[in-house]
Amino acid sequence: MNVTFRQLKVFEAVARHLSYTLAARELHLSQPAVSMQIKQLEENTGIALFEQLGKQTYLTEAGREMYHYSRAIAKQLEEASEVLEHLKGVHRGRLDISVASTANYFSTRLLAVFARRYPGTSFSLDVTNRETLLLQLQENEKDMVIMGKPPEGMELMAEDFMENPLVVVAPPDHPLAGKKGIPLDTLQNETFVVREPGSGTFIAMERFFAEHSVSLSTGMQMTSNEAIKQAVEAGLGLGIVSIHTLELELEARRLVVLDVQAFPILRHWYVVHRKGKRLSPVAQAFRRFVLDEAKNLLLQTRQSSWAQLTGC
Ligand code: PGA
Repeated sequence: MNVTFRQLKVFEAVARHLSYTLAARELHLSQPAVSMQIKQLEENTGIALFEQLGKQTYLTEAGREMYHYSRAIAKQLEEASEVLEHLKGVHRGRLDISVASTANYFSTRLLAVFARRYPGTSFSLDVTNRETLLLQLQENEKDMVIMGKPPEGMELMAEDFMENPLVVVAPPDHPLAGKKGIPLDTLQNETFVVREPGSGTFIAMERFFAEHSVSLSTGMQMTSNEAIKQAVEAGLGLGIVSIHTLELELEARRLVVLDVQAFPILRHWYVVHRKGKRLSPVAQAFRRFVLDEAKNLLLQTRQSSWAQLTGC
């Protein structure tokens, strides 16, 4: 197969946008130049990679396979160029990270501090749930990920840097609000608004209640912490969320944390990358920064949230 890097780069952009026009714009090429590269690539591979139905461009099955490999090759080239930049003594670069939806509540604050310290760097931040993060790690799509503890058996380097307590939240006028030491099985009489099954929060919650032989009535599933908090505020049920998501609601007394026995569910945050990955200089600096400084930087916020939680 006689394929050039240039063809792969153009293919990757067209496949990502499913549009010749958008790919041409991104690559600063004309549309005929993009079409020509794709045509040559299809000739070289001997198989159609795109199909045109009406105005819409689709990947063929071969195209989807090719996309998988072209993304990995693009990422490796990016890594190589970062490493070479460093060898040339150029301290700038791009950090491509993904964080769990729940970690987004503090990740942007960390990036802001990091960006001030390393003004030459730029970032791409993807916010998604645990299931997708694991896929991204598997596909080597990201430099690094911030998430709950990854499963054993994947070739990952995961380093713990901070606690992540999950708590039960209710609207302030809920009959259980303000009660001390609520027995866990009282929750069986309540309806819960919960995160989607691919989320770390949901998985931890399920494991916790199974371990305590308590069965919950989960009324609604929602894919964001914001939606859960609003649903709880609106009286649709109780919620289980990370304390990191609650800063504003606790301050404004829009939600309260219930004092349930055996709570909080104590999880931890990890900075994770693939074992053996050649981290670029900027990725190495970010990993060190998170491990050494994230906890203290965010401590102030956590302390005020915990003060609200305990009512003192
Ligand atoms: P999530 O958080 O629930 O937003 O996926 C990750 C985790 O707690 O593992």
